[in-house]
Amino acid sequence: MKRLPHAILDCESRTKKGRKIVAALQSKTDLTGRHVLEVGTGSGIIAHCISEAVGSGGKVMAVDIADQRQIAGGYDFELVENSRLPFPDATFDVVVSNHVFEHVGDLEQQADHLREIRRVLREGGFVYFAVPNRWTVVEPHFRLAFLSWVPSQVRSVYLRFFRRGAFYDCNPPSHRRLIGMFKEARLRHEQFTFKAMRIMAAVEDPPPWTRRLLVAPVFLQALLYPVIPTMVFILTALPLGGDPLE
Ligand SMILES: C[S@@+](CC[C@H](N)C(=O)[O-])C[C@H]1O[C@@H](n2cnc3c(N)ncnc32)[C@H](O)[C@@H]1O
Repeated sequence: MKRLPHAILDCESRTKKGRKIVAALQSKTDLTGRHVLEVGTGSGIIAHCISEAVGSGGKVMAVDIADQRQIAGGYDFELVENSRLPFPDATFDVVVSNHVFEHVGDLEQQADHLREIRRVLREGGFVYFAVPNRWTVVEPHFRLAFLSWVPSQVRSVYLRFFRRGAFYDCNPPSHRRLIGMFKEARLRHEQFTFKAMRIMAAVEDPPPWTRRLLVAPVFLQALLYPVIPTMVFILTALPLGGDPLE
């Protein structure tokens, strides 16, 4: 069965998300004049927000397997067929992958997604990477408790049993698996989940439990990484061909 894009297309939520991603990246590097790629752009609104941040001296490219753009201005767009990116090595200063990883396919395709991001990123470049956690209690695409906890072979059966759909087409990773995959792809990770929550809290009023989490001691926050519903990382490109355990 065909995978669905699961893209959120409304302007308000995507503009907020775009601003958050720009603020997260700006906390790492000045985006002015940068060459940025957004993989899996969906509505195109995040790419549009980034284009305002890079200014006239920069350039934004967006790709997706489907064209669902609501805003097409400020950036270039190309359709792709799978995780392969149609760009030469070391083309981009910054890559954004926001809630795309869980949609690209099986483990091999997910590993390809990361390898391709690393390949087109110049050394020292940054990636904003966000993905839902397999161990979140309520699976976010189908709003069904424990859906991603059950073994992948029986997730569609579980979905049909609760009459929420016919086919489970997502593959959210665990925190542990993801960290291993970053290493294999030569990407160094920095946990950015709580920093991203803080940036979002400055844009919109967070629910009380988020406010409490944001003031919790760092060691307590770290204990939550394996179960936090959305994992956010800033990745940096390590030299290719170096020590795989670095
Ligand atoms: C949940 S949406 C996220 C859209 C956008 N990043 C956002 O945050 O609004 C997932 C997107 O990934 C796209 N997608 C799935 N597999 C892809 C692939 N291999 N390469 C590029 N985009 C892909 C889907 O078409 C969809 O637009």
